[in-house]
Amino acid sequence: MTTVELRRWSEADLPALSPLVEQSLAEGWGFVERLYTRYCDGSNRFEQPGEVLLGAWAADALVGIGGLNRDPYSQDASLARVRHLYVVPAWRRHGVGRLLVEALVAQARAWAQAVVLRTNNPAAASFYTALGFVASPVAESTHWLAL
Ligand SMILES: CC(C)(COP(=O)(O)OP(=O)(O)OC[C@H]1O[C@@H](n2cnc3c(N)ncnc32)[C@H](O)[C@@H]1OP(=O)(O)O)[C@@H](O)C(=O)NCCC(=O)NCCS
Repeated sequence: MTTVELRRWSEADLPALSPLVEQSLAEGWGFVERLYTRYCDGSNRFEQPGEVLLGAWAADALVGIGGLNRDPYSQDASLARVRHLYVVPAWRRHGVGRLLVEALVAQARAWAQAVVLRTNNPAAASFYTALGFVASPVAESTHWLAL
């Protein structure tokens, strides 16, 4: 099987994101398009200290993406939030989502006490539970991982 490699996102990668925007919109998810828009307009580039945006690449193809922000919904500076995690349908259940989240959590360990996220997708909820997340006590989030 083709090896999947994670790379910190760079502006030069943007053209590769368009197909993921299209695929996610076709599935009814608007958050990849929001990621694209906010990256382009500069409102969220995952560039605050401790933040990161990662692409998952199989050869030259972008097969997944996900970011880590300082939680914008909380005053608690020790909370990290996983944002905009998306794996293209053809690559699901091959460990790409796990690879992305484990790398984001590793990044969070350097500065955060917990990672939160919000999802309304039951499949994603099962995925996060499989990765050790539990119900979140924090506003604007559904899942929580203590670090
Ligand atoms: C959620 C998502 C990112 C998971 O990515 P993925 O690459 O398929 O996940 P992985 O292959 O790493 O799965 C790891 C484990 O999570 C669990 N899991 C993943 N998808 C699952 C599903 N649909 N149903 C139940 N459990 C699931 C399994 O335990 C899996 O391990 P296994 O395949 O060995 O059984 C992907 O399905 C996706 O992009 N969905 C649409 C967008 C979305 O909802 N994103 C989350 C927004 S917060």
